[in-house]
Amino acid sequence: MERKYKSLSIPFLEIPRSEFSSSLLSLEKQAIEIAKVGYAPYSNFKVGVALELTSGKIILGSNQENIAFPSGLCAERTALFYAGANFPNDPPKSIVIVALSKGLQVPITPCGACRQVFSEISSRYNQTFQVIMIDDKKAIIVEDNRYLLPFSFEASF
Ligand code: THU
Repeated sequence: MERKYKSLSIPFLEIPRSEFSSSLLSLEKQAIEIAKVGYAPYSNFKVGVALELTSGKIILGSNQENIAFPSGLCAERTALFYAGANFPNDPPKSIVIVALSKGLQVPITPCGACRQVFSEISSRYNQTFQVIMIDDKKAIIVEDNRYLLPFSFEASF
């Protein structure tokens, strides 16, 4: 019997830097500034995020490394867990992510563990959020965080 593959596709926008809005430029600038003062002595790969909550509050985060490597944390989760702890009634609206390698802005996409955390946060609040990945040339905008983790783990205990 011939098996037929099903497939999924992920919609995303690619916006050239020349078309960035002033609000996107402002969030990017904040993410770059926080990345610069991040703690990444082992990888020298500095990641910064500007997380906008539904109220409009902006939370900034950077990666926080540790000599016991698994003990470190990505910039995305640093900001998201801070927001979850301090503003539990204010769900994320969007997260802007940037990365600096040798001081230069380079492409960045969130790791699998962060995508899993995105997924649970959008289930927790029953509200999805935008994920915006910016490099020196463009922004990639994914409107719904769930697109970044198809077949995500959501157990019902
Ligand atoms: N990192 C982040 O903070 N966010 C990402 O999206 C990818 C990777 C961090 C983890 C580690 O500190 C460094 O970047 C190199 O992997």
